[in-house]
Amino acid sequence: LHTNGGQRDLTEEILEAVDQSEHVATNEAFPQIPQGEIKAALDRLASRSMVEYETKDNEEVILTEEGQTIADEGSHEYQIWDAVQKAGRLSDKDLGAHPASKFGRGNAIKAKWIKKDGDGWVSLAESVTDHTRVQLQHVQQHHVMQDPKQQKDYTKRKLITTRKVITYVARKGPRWAKEMRIEVTDLTAEMIADGSWKTANFKPYNFNAKGTLGGEGAGGGTGALHPLNKVREEFRKIFFNMGFEEMPTARFVDSGFWNFDALYVPQQHPARDLQDTFYVSDPPEAGPPGPDPEFDTILASMDVDDDQDESDHPTLDPAARAKDTTSKLDYTKYYDNVRAVHQDGKFGSIGYRYPFKDDEPKRLVLRTHTTSISAYVLHRLSANPRPCRYFSIDRVFRNETVDATHLAEFHQIEGVIADYNLTLGGLQAFLKRFFRNIGVPDLKFKPAYNPYTEPSMEVFAWHEGLNKIVEIGNSGMFRPEMLLAMGLPPDLRVYGFGLSLERPTMIKYGISNIRELLGHKVDLGFIEGNPAVRLDRE
Ligand code: PHE
Repeated sequence: LHTNGGQRDLTEEILEAVDQSEHVATNEAFPQIPQGEIKAALDRLASRSMVEYETKDNEEVILTEEGQTIADEGSHEYQIWDAVQKAGRLSDKDLGAHPASKFGRGNAIKAKWIKKDGDGWVSLAESVTDHTRVQLQHVQQHHVMQDPKQQKDYTKRKLITTRKVITYVARKGPRWAKEMRIEVTDLTAEMIADGSWKTANFKPYNFNAKGTLGGEGAGGGTGALHPLNKVREEFRKIFFNMGFEEMPTARFVDSGFWNFDALYVPQQHPARDLQDTFYVSDPPEAGPPGPDPEFDTILASMDVDDDQDESDHPTLDPAARAKDTTSKLDYTKYYDNVRAVHQDGKFGSIGYRYPFKDDEPKRLVLRTHTTSISAYVLHRLSANPRPCRYFSIDRVFRNETVDATHLAEFHQIEGVIADYNLTLGGLQAFLKRFFRNIGVPDLKFKPAYNPYTEPSMEVFAWHEGLNKIVEIGNSGMFRPEMLLAMGLPPDLRVYGFGLSLERPTMIKYGISNIRELLGHKVDLGFIEGNPAVRLDRE
């Protein structure tokens, strides 16, 4: 049981009180304790459903300063009678000099407690009951007045007044217990190791707690955007300015089909090894490739903006039109085509000439690149082939040894451009323009290999800080056997390129170790205090 250094704490007292009576009015049970403290204790118990409570706005009667004097010393008329009684006889002059005479004399006469006797005053009673005092003492103790007429009278005489009070009425809750169990606030390595986390009583989050304002960093109590988010926004703007639309990417786990097979990564390629890819064991496998309703909804809203689509079917409503085109997609045929290219060759490719294993496409992986999404989007394009530009910026995962420049996850910026009769020179011109927009003027291209693009080019640029040429991206023209297998027309060609979001961000912010940018070692002061980014455009 939690105790405050031996002191009984209020939550325990409330539990005790609620245990003993069905409804506990806190103002009666704990008259000395401030309402704020009572509420805090009740909230602690209520958040655990041990106790339930209601809040009541009440009015209570209290004594004014004068009312208090009467409760302590007696009413004016009582004091007058008392003075006369004690003296036996009081001269008119002496009575007039008594401090209570102004208000008390008249009432004492009316009550037949004293009377005039010649030029003095005498008592008429051996003892009297001071009703006013008794009633005010009652108010002092119970904060109520039974008789409304009397209350009105005393209020007018400014002996009493009222004030608002909040009280709480508490009773047992659905998870009533008479004692608070020890609450665990931290999950430790030991708890995981010895299994005690399974039965531990974790302290619930208190979402009503006020956070502390004014942190260490320049941002104070405000939120701050992570540098990666800022640079990402810059890239998004550049893409939008260049006529790109954003692909949906909310699919971190994808099937081997989209991540590897559709992109002709050979089924026994080292990239598919456990060393390079994180496989997901639960659920054990993916279903066959098919439409992703969420992606299709997002992509359909882009189709609608398409001008040529508009003039083709002016009478169809947008939803019907989008549905109309994608229902033409045949995923089974696409799968068979991909299978055929791997195994025997098709669409001009001689294939890998190995028996295609149907297990591989079903394996679930943490996507190793966002090209898996590009493949889905390009296949969908075959329902309504047309020139278009898509981009995405999102997280990808690779089972890599973590060091200063590598993490097991990073963000990939990816773009695809589909148009008729594109050429490699056009891709180079585009990439030059794109990188000029982010402040990288001189590019070098190096022939490279991707199983899904031919030709392929690695993109290099001069790095001021490192004083050497560094690789900044990968690119290529998607292979005919990839696009034709999807059902795209032969003269529609597609550029693709990808780069990491981390590298330009690190260069921009002068960070040399990626762990300073992402992960648990990141200095929050740096996140809060770093300047807004502006990629130096030309
Ligand atoms: N998927 C590639 C990578 O991970 C990037 C790329 C995308 C290359 C599209 C060519 C075409 O590096």
